[in-house]
Amino acid sequence: MRELSDIDVVGVVGAGTMGNGIAQVAATAGYEVVMRDIEREYVERGLGSIDDSLDRLASKGALDEDPGAIRDRIAGTTDLDDLATADLVVEAAVEEMDVKRDVFADLDDVTDDDVVLATNTSTLSITTIASATDRASDVIGLHFMNPVPVMDGVEVVVGERTADPVVEFAHAFAADLGKETWEADDKPGFVTNRILMPWINEGVRAFDEGVADKADIDRGMKLGTNVPMGPLELADHIGLDVVLDASETLHAELGDRYKPAYLVKRKVEAGDLGKKTGRGFYEYGE
Ligand code: 3HC
Repeated sequence: MRELSDIDVVGVVGAGTMGNGIAQVAATAGYEVVMRDIEREYVERGLGSIDDSLDRLASKGALDEDPGAIRDRIAGTTDLDDLATADLVVEAAVEEMDVKRDVFADLDDVTDDDVVLATNTSTLSITTIASATDRASDVIGLHFMNPVPVMDGVEVVVGERTADPVVEFAHAFAADLGKETWEADDKPGFVTNRILMPWINEGVRAFDEGVADKADIDRGMKLGTNVPMGPLELADHIGLDVVLDASETLHAELGDRYKPAYLVKRKVEAGDLGKKTGRGFYEYGE
């Protein structure tokens, strides 16, 4: 396994919300980054989000460097072979086990043998993902929170075969990105989503069952418990498709108390996925 001091190039698989956020914070911390997605269009969109986010941070003096200099450290690609130079890879592809296992099998071939392979999965088993490789001891969960550039925390998820030095390395790498960490065992949903998803689904059910207007559910939880977003706002922020996927995984693994709310399913079927499509529980203008 490479030491943190040997890490120059960070590979990121996936240029979506989480992938481009991870690429951004890694580049901001001084790493060279190779961010890969399957279509050029996705790569370009990810790079555009990074530009916007860096500009926002720069405008309030939150960066030590010119945003252009940070951005120059990020290369976008559609070719997985370009990750051959990576000293560490963080995967943030879609939340489908088959896709992740294929990606990890490919990463196992493409990268040097001593490269740690991390996954940003929100609910899937690290151990099952790791078993697609011949280096399960070097596979770990690094679960970033959305929006990655703003959120302070990263969940380190330890698979059945993850080696202790890899766990220490993951905490140290996250700290180097300016994040605080906590550690979870490889159990469905880990700490955050195991607790967050039923909270969101219960908020949606409370709305659907007429307990209160949606704005009052969100206001009640914000004013009553000092969270920055209520459950319906947060569902829109995360994306209702992500909430549904995570809830379905938890439901399959942990039983009925994790059943996704009917209204989340219905909105996903309608294509109303939250902020990213302009409509979820609320409407969002340009
Ligand atoms: N890049 C750069 N800056 C950003 C940003 C981004 N992508 N998103 C927000 N910001 C900045 C804004 O510029 C603003 O900066 P300022 O206060 O200095 O002006 C600051 O963050 C606050 O943003 P806004 O004023 O637009 O809005 P809010 O005050 O409502 O904050 C929020 C937005 C930070 C998202 C806050 O509402 C929040 O913390 N919400 C909860 C988010 C949360 O719980 N995330 C975890 C979800 S679970 C998860 O990710 C796990 C996954 O597996 C599902």
